[in-house]
Amino acid sequence: MNKEQVLEKLKSINYPGFNRDIVSFGMVKDIVIKDNHVNVKINISSQNEEKKQAVINDVKKELDSHFSSVEIDVTSQAASTPSTPPANAPNVVNNVDHIIAIASGKGGVGKSTVAANIACALAREGKKVGLLDLDIYGPSLPITLGINEQPQMTQENKLIPLEKFGMKIMSFGFISGNDTPVIWRGPLVSRMTEQFFRDVDWGELDILVLDLPPGTGDIQLTLTQKLRMTGAIIVTTPQDIALADVRKGADMFRKVNTPLLGVIENMSGLILSGNTDPDNSKLEINGQKVEPDNNGSFSISLDLFKKGGGEKESERLGVPLLGKVPISESIMSSTDSGTPLTTHESLNDIGKIYVSISKQIVSLIE
Ligand SMILES: Nc1ncnc2c1ncn2[C@@H]1O[C@H](COP(=O)(O)OP(=O)(O)OP(=O)(O)O)[C@@H](O)[C@H]1O
Ligand SMILES: [Mg+2]
Repeated sequence: MNKEQVLEKLKSINYPGFNRDIVSFGMVKDIVIKDNHVNVKINISSQNEEKKQAVINDVKKELDSHFSSVEIDVTSQAASTPSTPPANAPNVVNNVDHIIAIASGKGGVGKSTVAANIACALAREGKKVGLLDLDIYGPSLPITLGINEQPQMTQENKLIPLEKFGMKIMSFGFISGNDTPVIWRGPLVSRMTEQFFRDVDWGELDILVLDLPPGTGDIQLTLTQKLRMTGAIIVTTPQDIALADVRKGADMFRKVNTPLLGVIENMSGLILSGNTDPDNSKLEINGQKVEPDNNGSFSISLDLFKKGGGEKESERLGVPLLGKVPISESIMSSTDSGTPLTTHESLNDIGKIYVSISKQIVSLIE
């Protein structure tokens, strides 16, 4: 067996509790084959010994019959190791266990929608969650979450986050008003943002989700440097041009030692569903044959852009593709009505994708 074949074998091993394999999670760091001996280096950032042991056993089982000896080295560093806080990091986040940034190279890829849905999903799982909209140019949380109030102040002149859907929420939009276009220049924005961050009384939180402004310029860099973050997640659409931006984003986070937890591909394909005569065997959409069920209902996924871009890019960067969210009318309408899909009592298929993403995030940072 060569390295590639071993890797193929390891792709059949799922990380315990996940529907996703240890290779795509980026846990397999190296494979060294010498004569009939194989050494596999695996990095599992989780502190859960049981899960580690389960992975070791599975790797042994998978490779034992192909080699005379199988050696497995397990490390537990990187991805989730919180970066050392810069000396000047605001110390108000003492009571916040993890800060996670949702970033994107390009605007309009669905970052705020992802951030809101993930935060709501985490709150739904019982986590103490905060959601901070740092998009000073185009704050969208007031609309996405249907909030039209102004925050109160504490006696110490700190902003009290608004509460909705079981989480604490703060946005520039709460202060500047939904319709006020804010046109400020870079350095001022960085300073404002830092101050804004410091002036919010978050109390105790398990996870604070940051919705960063789009792009990977100075503002994002300063923010990432100033706030100590557990990790970042990059949202992208499947086109090449957006993927090139993922690389830029990854480079930026590497520069400031913030671990990249994963990539989310948004607007990944379009789900069409409807009804037809169950006997109709000729229905085709964009060359794809549609097969209705016994009642004549059908649902197919069309790739509007090139396929597999998110996978390739996340593999290249060595970080997991946390999920692919299709284009869906339900996302748009739920956002417009201020009730993200993951706040709905019964989750639709897309709500379930967001929940699966948030579970992976918890596992990665745990
Ligand atoms: N998967 C999706 N399917 C359909 N519509 C979507 C999807 N994701 C996001 N949208 C819609 O696309 C628009 C842009 O999304 P969003 O505001 O989340 O992007 P953004 O990356 O935060 O933008 P900006 O860079 O301006 O902050 C919104 O109207 C949102 O409802
Ligand atoms: Mg946004």
